[in-house]
Amino acid sequence: MVATAVLAAGCGGPEMETPDAASPTSVAVTTSVPASATATTTIPVSTATTAEAAPTPTTTAAAAELPTTTTTVAPAETVEVIDPVGVGDSFYPGLGNPGYDVQHYEISLDVDPATNTIEASAAIVALAAEDLASFNLDLSGLEVHSVTVDGAHAAFSRSGHELSVQPADSLVAGSQFEVEVHYSGMPEPIMDPGVPFSEMGWLQRGGVIYTLGEPSGSMTWFPSNNHPTDKATYQIEITVPEGTTAASNGLLVAETADDGEATYTWRMDDPMASYLAAVYIGDFERIDHGPLHAGGPRLRDYVPRNAPAETVQALSVTPSVIAFLEERLGPYPFDAYGTIVMPFMLGLALENQTLSIHGPATIGPGIIAHEAAHQWLGNSVSPDDWSEIWLNEGFATYLHLMFEAEHYGADFDRTMADIHAWLTADGMGPPKGIEIRELFGPSIYFRGAATLHALRLHIGDNTFYEILRTHHNRSAGGTTNTEEFLGIVEEFAGPDAVDLLERWLYDQSVPPLPPAA
Ligand code: ARG
Ligand code: ZN
Repeated sequence: MVATAVLAAGCGGPEMETPDAASPTSVAVTTSVPASATATTTIPVSTATTAEAAPTPTTTAAAAELPTTTTTVAPAETVEVIDPVGVGDSFYPGLGNPGYDVQHYEISLDVDPATNTIEASAAIVALAAEDLASFNLDLSGLEVHSVTVDGAHAAFSRSGHELSVQPADSLVAGSQFEVEVHYSGMPEPIMDPGVPFSEMGWLQRGGVIYTLGEPSGSMTWFPSNNHPTDKATYQIEITVPEGTTAASNGLLVAETADDGEATYTWRMDDPMASYLAAVYIGDFERIDHGPLHAGGPRLRDYVPRNAPAETVQALSVTPSVIAFLEERLGPYPFDAYGTIVMPFMLGLALENQTLSIHGPATIGPGIIAHEAAHQWLGNSVSPDDWSEIWLNEGFATYLHLMFEAEHYGADFDRTMADIHAWLTADGMGPPKGIEIRELFGPSIYFRGAATLHALRLHIGDNTFYEILRTHHNRSAGGTTNTEEFLGIVEEFAGPDAVDLLERWLYDQSVPPLPPAA
């Protein structure tokens, strides 16, 4: 059966509500969770989700994303990992910049999709954390035309992805200042050592411009303090030829047309890490579903115009996904949620804040639940160092596997027991012992998820979910790390539970699953 949302597609203004948005029709998918725990249909990394290639469980994420650009001539540059200016991230020492704290970004992009070029400005409001004679922003490629600080021209220089700014007058610790950068050119994607299977950043493919920021790619299209420890609010204004759709994070607050051009203004009023900022430009249709429930987030999806009915129908699972997650994690943390589906085989999905990007083969219930879970775990609460990535992926995977088992009527304990058997047979190392190229590998996703399963079996459902909610609530809008998580576990479940988690997180060998509490 076709959900009402399908019928509403194309005729709905932003205010329109579909009558059954709160109790969606389930999608008519006939596949069930594979008996084998490796659950390959639901691994939201590149190899696992392409329809044509079901990987063996031991395959890492590092294989098969198709080339993603059509117009970039130069080969993608690899992010310089060794860089003196950064905030001390253990995997990405060159990302982020010390000395200031961004409050708000106002990014304005005038985009010519035909040439894949931009004319852009970024106005950045920040607080000086110390007296600053100069400071850096992260920007890769593009041409910088001018920089002002509080309206006065500032000198600037560039080296790698560092844009160094010397304001005319030094900034005083504690003061607020505004930097404005005018820049233009053809944004070039980069290779990120943590994502060896895909180019990152600003990408053009199949008539669409889209961005993949995690972890380092956002600096290919706007200057920022490019590390999750410096979250800020955003306004992203995108001007495109009339008839083209442009989407970004948060709420669409204005849409104007003038002289053959359309401008879309998007506002993200909750703190957001730079890696979750997104731009999508192409021939998309917006599907508005109204609020998920009274006082709840607005649900809106974007699909390629004239997308097959199955695409739209696959998205009808979202309200039940959000309800499932709210029951366990507490209220959805942002004003809006939705999925944008690319018109080509994007072999991955990414949880860009409030509007996750998926491909036509990555819109199963598991992956939709995965990216939705990241809105709490990853986006609202982000890792304070990229080596803490299991806090994103292990948690999202655990919840998505649980949703998927419920959705298909599978035995979840059996699924997790199968995953445990696979991890053990494979000798899968611990999520806190990875190298940068394993950032999105199976230890992070699956040993990470099994780690939480072991905890839940040990302490029982009530304490487990209380811990998850506390983990979210205490750091919502900010960042956290494993040590803080273990502190919460100790507080609610005592030192035994911490010992158990430490074995799962740090020991080379895979511990046994404990008997249920
Ligand atoms: N956080 C993404 C997920 O949901 C990771 C996908 C890998 N790609 C990337 N560009 N980081 O699993
Ligand atoms: Zn994920």
